[in-house]
Amino acid sequence: MTDTIESGAAVRAAKPHIRPTRPNFSSGPCAKPPGWAANKLDTRVLGRSHRGALGKARLQYCIDLMRELLGLPDSHRIGIVPGSDTGAFEMAMWTILGQRGVTTLAWESFGEGWVTDAVKQLKLDPIVLRADYGQLPDLEQVDWSTDVLFTWNGTTSGVRVPDGNWISEDREGLSFADATSAVFAYDLPWDKIDVATFSWQKVLGGEAAHGVLILGPRAVERLESYTPDRPLPKLFRLTKGGKLIEGIFKGETINTPSMLAVEDAIFALEWAKSIGGRDGLIARTDANAEALNRIVEERHWLGHLAVDPASRSKTSVCLTVEGADADFIKRFAKLLYGEGVAFDIAGYRDAPPGLRIWCGATVDAADIEALGPWLDWAWEQTRR
Ligand SMILES: Cc1ncc(COP(=O)(O)O)c(C=O)c1O
Repeated sequence: MTDTIESGAAVRAAKPHIRPTRPNFSSGPCAKPPGWAANKLDTRVLGRSHRGALGKARLQYCIDLMRELLGLPDSHRIGIVPGSDTGAFEMAMWTILGQRGVTTLAWESFGEGWVTDAVKQLKLDPIVLRADYGQLPDLEQVDWSTDVLFTWNGTTSGVRVPDGNWISEDREGLSFADATSAVFAYDLPWDKIDVATFSWQKVLGGEAAHGVLILGPRAVERLESYTPDRPLPKLFRLTKGGKLIEGIFKGETINTPSMLAVEDAIFALEWAKSIGGRDGLIARTDANAEALNRIVEERHWLGHLAVDPASRSKTSVCLTVEGADADFIKRFAKLLYGEGVAFDIAGYRDAPPGLRIWCGATVDAADIEALGPWLDWAWEQTRR
């Protein structure tokens, strides 16, 4: 804040001169990779069959790039499925759960969505471990004889699990990580993850539409040894005659994919490779989160919704604003949107009123830094 006192009157902070070059701070769909333009996408495959040689090759190339950038071991399969992250996670829930007890962890809206699925749709009577926005449930309480569902990075509260140390090496149940806001931002311990899902729309800045499903060997074993007693739509079917449909993990998608979305993901993955792969993506996310943290620390009226810095998200950073209610946040965010300096920074509709600023790799740290003075300006304007 640049308030100064002249002749006893407060002088208002002037509009900052520097604007974020790309005001895209949405937590999904997230900013496109720097340098992205629609006409840079490879369009050779558009208007052609995804089951033809070129289509299959592009799908396989996309899968190969994801595997390489995630550092995914050969033990884990990775496939492109319908329905963005939700599709991928629900496909896993519907096809795998029911053989043993289930624990669902929820500390924000998306984790709560998986609880609803488990309780009301699948009627699994799960153990539910909950925490309020800003906190994590006690991870030590998790019973690993059950299948355990959790969100690696809770996008609507800005709270993530700090690491995978709490996941038992000797688990009898399977670990299911909704990792959509976590992959490519944190180093994930794949040996602790039996099922993971994500969508290109988050850290990669790709399109939604498709989800990515990762299955570890124990999840495959479950799929091949247990058939749940429930109807499964074709879109969810991962096995045939008791065997995993391996083609799904080689680019033979269940139904027709958007090859435009696939080409867009390939663009993002190639960009990621060009900046140093996973380490480069993580370094950019870290730099963005640190830049935003400096902004928060310099202002008494901003705070982190995540109580413990060890479990504070580095991607979907959720901030408290002193004294702000939902109406204040709405006006605050609208002002910045009107100036063209920050799009989509109001917190999620079910979260406590506050701001949410995406710090994933496709955002530039200079744009986060440029946002600071604009937050001051909006804070002052909104309070008037
Ligand atoms: C943690 C989490 N899970 C699930 C979803 C739903 O993702 P999608 O809309 O890609 O299916 C989101 C979207 O923001 C999310 O952040």
